[in-house]
Amino acid sequence: MKKDGAPADRIQKDFDRHARILDFEPVNKENLQQAIDLAVAIFGDGDREAITEEFSGSLDPDSKLPFIESSQFFLVFKNEHPVGVTGYYSIPGHPEDIWLDWMGVLPQYRENGIGTQLVQHGFIDKAKPDVKTLRIWTTIEEDYDKARSLYKKMGFVEEPYKPDATDAAKMVVVFSRSTDPQADKGYLWKNSAYPIDCEEHVVPDLNKKLGLGGADGQNAKGADKAGHPSTRKPPHP
Ligand SMILES: CC(C)(COP(=O)(O)OP(=O)(O)OC[C@H]1O[C@@H](n2cnc3c(N)ncnc32)[C@H](O)[C@@H]1OP(=O)(O)O)[C@@H](O)C(=O)NCCC(=O)NCCS
Repeated sequence: MKKDGAPADRIQKDFDRHARILDFEPVNKENLQQAIDLAVAIFGDGDREAITEEFSGSLDPDSKLPFIESSQFFLVFKNEHPVGVTGYYSIPGHPEDIWLDWMGVLPQYRENGIGTQLVQHGFIDKAKPDVKTLRIWTTIEEDYDKARSLYKKMGFVEEPYKPDATDAAKMVVVFSRSTDPQADKGYLWKNSAYPIDCEEHVVPDLNKKLGLGGADGQNAKGADKAGHPSTRKPPHP
């Protein structure tokens, strides 16, 4: 594969190329199952339940997940072939941020600039004027090496999420990028914002995977529970 040219030049070239041929179709009742199946093909069957819950929830204002105010997902086509999915959500009480969600490309279409365009067209360009910061929650797991590299190339700054009582594995990172190109580093997360779902749901799963938590992945050995206010949201349904 050709890897010449400065990253910024290449990103611009990919932008121009894919802008003409990538089609972002909002997920709706008709294509919901197709979008879920595509996301499962990208992220694996272990995530089917969470994907189904979030994609379906995005269409049903009455069944919102406790940590999501609103969300939008897209099926992405290239020359009419489905190639990826992407989405974003906001957290209750924080319209100043939007968070990237379930962004991924089918393996056979990767390393051709599509992931970059999913982040650009499906996330950065979609931010409404009242959104100040683009955020991405992820982990330092090897599975996400490519994604973290992509986010950094696109100007996102990576920070560790605060070592929470449940985050014994200390794997969670938050990427941030201001919507204002002139902004200084005031947009950084700085572990000072608000609790996010990892504290309740994903981190215990990570702990379980690594054998760090108890049976439910909570109260992992070595975790410091002191000083953490009881701001927990109800567990993921
Ligand atoms: C992360 C992911 C979305 C990236 O998708 P992608 O389509 O491969 O992304 P891109 O093609 O834009 O960039 C990937 C790499 O290809 C390179 N590349 C992109 N276009 C290129 C081109 N035309 N020529 C040469 N190299 C190119 C990029 O520089 C980048 O290189 P790097 O790995 O050294 O950083 C994809 O790997 C994926 O779906 N992973 C599983 C799901 C996932 O991890 N989602 C994120 C959860 S946080």
